[in-house]
Amino acid sequence: MALAFHCSKLDFEETREPPPPPPPPRVTVPFPEAMFEQNGCASCHGKDGDGRATLSSNGYMPNFQDKSTYRHGSSLPEILNSIKKGVPGTQMRGYPHLQKEEWRALAQHILGFQKK
Ligand code: HEC
Repeated sequence: MALAFHCSKLDFEETREPPPPPPPPRVTVPFPEAMFEQNGCASCHGKDGDGRATLSSNGYMPNFQDKSTYRHGSSLPEILNSIKKGVPGTQMRGYPHLQKEEWRALAQHILGFQKK
């Protein structure tokens, strides 16, 4: 009786083996996009970079999708420069404190918005 009980307990334990731990959550937001959100860029420039979510007070906001609206250049080095130094006298402050990879990710993200 005791043995039978023991066996059935074992069976019970075997079937109730804890499930394997779930896989770690996938990182679904790519680094450049996360940088654009976390540094507040999206709150002024919009998640899609079109500048419609604007908080700008000087009446000018570039549309990153349209290169003709950039005032300070739409190439990679020019965009990097705008991000590092900002645009003095506007709401676009500089981000000199970021890491090289972070500037690059942000600039690449902006290039990715360009459609024309
Ligand atoms: C408080 C609002 C605000 C935030 C936050 C902000 N920007 Fe800007 N940004 C502006 C405004 C306004 C301009 C236009 C400045 C001007 O009048 O030339 C601008 C200009 C720019 C330009 C130059 C575009 C051109 O006309 O050539 C780039 C590039 C840029 N922003 C990238 C970024 C990035 C990347 C971030 C986040 C790290 C960011 N901005 C955060 C408001 C903002």
